[in-house]
Amino acid sequence: MRHDSILILDFGSQYSHLIARRIRELGVYCELHACTRSREAIQEMQPKGIILSGGPYSVYQNDAPHAGEDVWKSGLPVLGVCYGLQEMALHFGGRVDAGERREYGHAELNIKESAGLFDNLPDSIQVWMSHGDKVQELPKGFRDIASTSNSEHAAVGIPEHNLFGIQFHPEVSHTPQGKTILKNFVAGVCRCKADWSMGSFINESIDRIRKEVGDGIVIGAISGGVDSSVAAVLLHRAIGDRFHGFLVDNGVLRLNEAAQVMERLKKKLGINLTLLDAGQAFLGRLQNVSDPEKKRKIIGHTFIEIFEEEARKIGGAEFLLQGTLYPDVIESISFKGPSATIKTHHNVGGLLEDMKLKLIEPLRELFKDEVRQLGLELGLDEESVYRHPFPGPGLAIRILGDVTEERLGILRQADAVYIEEIKKAGLYRDIGQAFAVLLPVKSVGVMGDCRTYEQVIALRAVQTTDYMTADWFPMPDAVLRTAANRIINEVRGVNRVVYDISSKPPSTIEWE
Ligand code: XMP
Repeated sequence: MRHDSILILDFGSQYSHLIARRIRELGVYCELHACTRSREAIQEMQPKGIILSGGPYSVYQNDAPHAGEDVWKSGLPVLGVCYGLQEMALHFGGRVDAGERREYGHAELNIKESAGLFDNLPDSIQVWMSHGDKVQELPKGFRDIASTSNSEHAAVGIPEHNLFGIQFHPEVSHTPQGKTILKNFVAGVCRCKADWSMGSFINESIDRIRKEVGDGIVIGAISGGVDSSVAAVLLHRAIGDRFHGFLVDNGVLRLNEAAQVMERLKKKLGINLTLLDAGQAFLGRLQNVSDPEKKRKIIGHTFIEIFEEEARKIGGAEFLLQGTLYPDVIESISFKGPSATIKTHHNVGGLLEDMKLKLIEPLRELFKDEVRQLGLELGLDEESVYRHPFPGPGLAIRILGDVTEERLGILRQADAVYIEEIKKAGLYRDIGQAFAVLLPVKSVGVMGDCRTYEQVIALRAVQTTDYMTADWFPMPDAVLRTAANRIINEVRGVNRVVYDISSKPPSTIEWE
């Protein structure tokens, strides 16, 4: 079934993906494509409307990106946001100049004409501005439909031709009624039906997997994190035991983790999942290695080796499951403006390259919170759906210095106590990631009448939206106090606990 959809053309703004989020929240399917792909995207999607995003350029700059002619020839409704408005003005013969003052922050928008974009809104609303250039002269036929004290042309258009441009950002939370504006465009102007829901996604996705795979075999490595778990459930629903999942226990997982994942996915949901107990192979190779990058490489390579060996045993596998999400897809297709953030990819490349497997990526259209919602609808428990991310190299990069069985035991226990206390306090879901780290130092303490000289545990918790920047979490005293007391009393070999109050940047979330 083809859904009514909206095409968002990305000119490089840091907010572009938020436009997509808001529209999906309205129940309307949309995709974000690089502005240079307008022709292909219009053909593929046959959208009911187009949104031009903001971007870091000036429209007259030599290397400024432009919307292809196809956008204007399509006859579809178009909404230009910020740079998108300037691009629209330029195309229709208006004039854009550098504003005398940059306008950044809140502004009051006075609405002159509500039909179309501003239906169901009061005469005046708060909006968020972030621009230098602005439209100075309207193109022929365009008229002002709203203004601010600094921008006469804050919203312009030819409503009867379904062309609209706005200087402010409706997609950010600082424009409280932004969603109504987007809804007016998407549902009112473009007449999209709101038929994008997780229920419809599940059925369509299962159909799609069945068509793609036929009677073939799919293999996949499952970590137990939300993405791989949800992807595995979908595959299981679509093709049953022709999906073979592998959980590699690399010896550096958290306390009881492998057993819990097996219980949740294999026992409860019936997924064809095999546990590969490979801890000794990993730990053997990690002996006397303290350099973090070396640890990562050893774990990455050993993982591929073990997974590949088992995958070959299945015989006849043609497909590899990957839990790619929409933000990763956007990363690779977006128009990269000069201010675009650069994401570090930690994942090991070249997985099973010579097996020539075709990728199955059932989550590639979804954002993280949509994957969580999907997981709940598919019957996964909250524990797996809201699990904090856990790095591939596992506890090996949370044990500073050498990774030994003894040190792993200490960290596992301390981490379990810490997470248990966070969950007891009802804070787990307010935190992006929380974990314990074992430091490579000993310090002096006193227990009873005796002097001790033992190890130090650092506790870390961060708030973050994208894991590219993060702030330390203001953990309540009571949680810190109980967690520290319990760790020192219950975990042998630890006599000191510290809390990490560094933000990223300049620190990173992990310590290695
Ligand atoms: P940093 O420490 O770079 O972490 O601020 C950002 C996010 O990435 C995770 N991380 C990794 N994930 N392999 C992974 O799969 C790795 O080598 C790796 N290093 C860091 C980290 O847990 C955090 O969520």
